[in-house]
Amino acid sequence: MSGTILHIVGARPQFVKYFAVSKAIRAFAEAHADSISDVLVHTGQHYDYSMSKIFFDELSIKEPEFHLEVGSGAHGEQTAKVLQRVEETLLKVKPACVLVYGDTNSTLGGALAAVKLHIPVCHVEAGLRSYNKSMPEEINRILTDHSSTVLFCPSNSSVDSLRKEGFTKIINGGKLVSEQNVDREIVSSSITIDTPLVVNVGDVMYDVLLHATAVAEKRSAILQQLQLTPKKYFLLTLHRAENTDNPQQFEEIINFVNTISGETPVIFPMHPRTKKIYERVIRKFDRSVRIIEPAGYFDVLTLLKNSALLLTDSGGMQKEAYWLQTQCVTLRKETEWVETLEGGWNTLFTNFTHRTPASSRQSPAYGDGKAAEKIVAVLHKLL
Ligand code: UD1
Repeated sequence: MSGTILHIVGARPQFVKYFAVSKAIRAFAEAHADSISDVLVHTGQHYDYSMSKIFFDELSIKEPEFHLEVGSGAHGEQTAKVLQRVEETLLKVKPACVLVYGDTNSTLGGALAAVKLHIPVCHVEAGLRSYNKSMPEEINRILTDHSSTVLFCPSNSSVDSLRKEGFTKIINGGKLVSEQNVDREIVSSSITIDTPLVVNVGDVMYDVLLHATAVAEKRSAILQQLQLTPKKYFLLTLHRAENTDNPQQFEEIINFVNTISGETPVIFPMHPRTKKIYERVIRKFDRSVRIIEPAGYFDVLTLLKNSALLLTDSGGMQKEAYWLQTQCVTLRKETEWVETLEGGWNTLFTNFTHRTPASSRQSPAYGDGKAAEKIVAVLHKLL
C-alpha cells in the first residue's frame, strides 16, 4: 500500500473499533511484507481516564500521533472544533484517506473536514438508521454517510438503508463480502465521492469481542470485587442524550428499571453525563441499583457476559449482549440494530411486558469476525 491512512477517534466505542482495524493493518503489513503508514488522531471528545485512556492501556493501543483536545461542549461547538482542528491536521499529514468510526460528533467533524479537502472518507459502521432525527447520532450518521467515498456496513439492513437513500454501487449485492469479492469486484479507479462504494464487511466490534472475551476472563476480577454471582444480577448502562437530557424520559426509565429489577441487584457503571444529570432528578433508583464508576472494556464484557439481563441505551452493548447470548432490554423507543430483536434476544422497553426466555439462536448477524481484515483488503485495493 502507498499513502497514509489517518484514523479519527474521540469517544469510548471508537477506541474499540479502531483497535480491530489497526490490528488488521499490522497483520496485513506482516503478511505482505508491506509497511503501512497509519496515523491516529484523538479528538479529545472523551478525556476522563475511565472514558479514554483505560481503553488505550487495556487494548495496548498506540499513543495517538495527534491529540486535538476538543473536550466537551454544545453539539455545534464540539463538532466545529473537531472540524477545524482535524482540517489543520489533515493539511499537515496529507493522508491518502481518512477512516471515521460510528456516529459521534468526532465522526461527523472528521468526515466534513476530510471531504471538504477532497480526501476520501471511509466510514466504518455505515448505513445505521434509527429514523429518529432528534438523536444527534442520527444526524451524524446520515451526514457522514453522504460525505463518504467508501461505506463499510456491518449488516444487510444497513446496506438496505443506503440503497433506499440512493447508493447504487454495492459490492456482492449487499451481502457479506469475502476477500475474493473484494479482489474481483473492486475497481479502484471507478470509486469517487460521486460514485461511492458500499461494502458489507460485518461488524468490527464482533472481531474485537472474539479476541477479548478470552482475555477478559483472565484479566477481569470485577465479579469478585463486586461480590456478584453469575446470572444473579442485572447490568444497566444509560447515557443517551434523548434519555438523560429529558427529565420526564429519565424518570420513566428510572421507574422501569426499579419495577423490572425488584430485588435483583443491578450494577450501573454510570457515564459522567448521566451522573451530572442524575444529581438533579427527583425520582431516584431503588437501593438494589448499585452505581459504580464507568468500567473498562474487559470489566464491562465480564459483567455483561455473566449478567442475567442487560438494560441499556448503548448501541454497542445491544450487540455485545446478542453475541454473548445475554438477554437485553433496550431503553429506547427504537434501535438501529434491528437484527438483535429477532428471537427475543433484545426488546425495546416500550414493548416490554414480561421476561420470556429468548429462543435458540440461528447463525449470528453482523459478519464472521473478520470485518477489519475485509476493510484492510478494500483499502489495499484503493490506496
Ligand atoms: C458520545 C456520543 C454517543 C456515544 C457516546 C459513547 C455524540 C453526539 N454522542 O456521547 O453517540 O454513544 O459518546 O460514550 O457524539 N464527559 C465527562 N468526561 C468525559 C467525556 C464526557 O465528564 O471524558 C461528560 C461531559 O459532561 C460531557 C458529557 O459527558 O458534556 C457528554 O459527553 P459527550 O462527549 O458530549 O457525549 P457522550 O454523551 O459521551
